[in-house]
Amino acid sequence: MTNLIVFFSRADENYVCGVLKNLEIGNTKQIASTIEGLIPADVFEIKMKTPYSKGYNQCLDEVQTDLRKNKRPALENQLSSIDGYDTIYLGYPNYWGTMPMAVFTFLEQFDFTGKTIRPFCTHEGSGFGNSLKDIKKLCPTAKVEKGIAILGSQWNMATGEIESWLRSGGR
Ligand SMILES: Cc1cc2nc3c(=O)[nH]c(=O)nc-3n(C[C@H](O)[C@H](O)[C@H](O)COP(=O)(O)O)c2cc1C
Repeated sequence: MTNLIVFFSRADENYVCGVLKNLEIGNTKQIASTIEGLIPADVFEIKMKTPYSKGYNQCLDEVQTDLRKNKRPALENQLSSIDGYDTIYLGYPNYWGTMPMAVFTFLEQFDFTGKTIRPFCTHEGSGFGNSLKDIKKLCPTAKVEKGIAILGSQWNMATGEIESWLRSGGR
């Protein structure tokens, strides 16, 4: 079985235990690295050509505007194909109840027929929101598993949970 870990994550300013801090590595990227340490997988980070602002509040506004416009932001990097992969671990933060629009851009590029998607989401209280429904809409021929939702600011306490999720086949 060949695995691919695909994720979007933002470093910079974010809330940690109620306080705004500058993070060098985003929460979802930390989880992606944990998964990478536990299973054999290739890794692809989805990056926007024009990233969101480093400031948390500006970023909130920019994301809301993109969401309202149902935007598909251009990506800085491209994955040539997903043909060689059976299972795709798809990671993203919950942004206003769904995925970052850059993840929409990514998913719309490929045919997921015969692929299994195992979503992992970081959030600050709302879990997956509508994101699982949105993945199913964007990838109607994929098998989309239940996935795992992790409190982003507590990413460093999630290793045990991730291990058992991986052991259970991602369900
Ligand atoms: C623009 C934006 C919108 C967010 N919307 C939500 C939300 O609706 N629900 C929630 O629980 N957390 C929300 N969060 C918190 C993030 O999901 C959380 O901090 C996540 O771990 C960030 O992941 P990252 O560091 O990998 O980018 C939001 C954060 C940002 C920056």
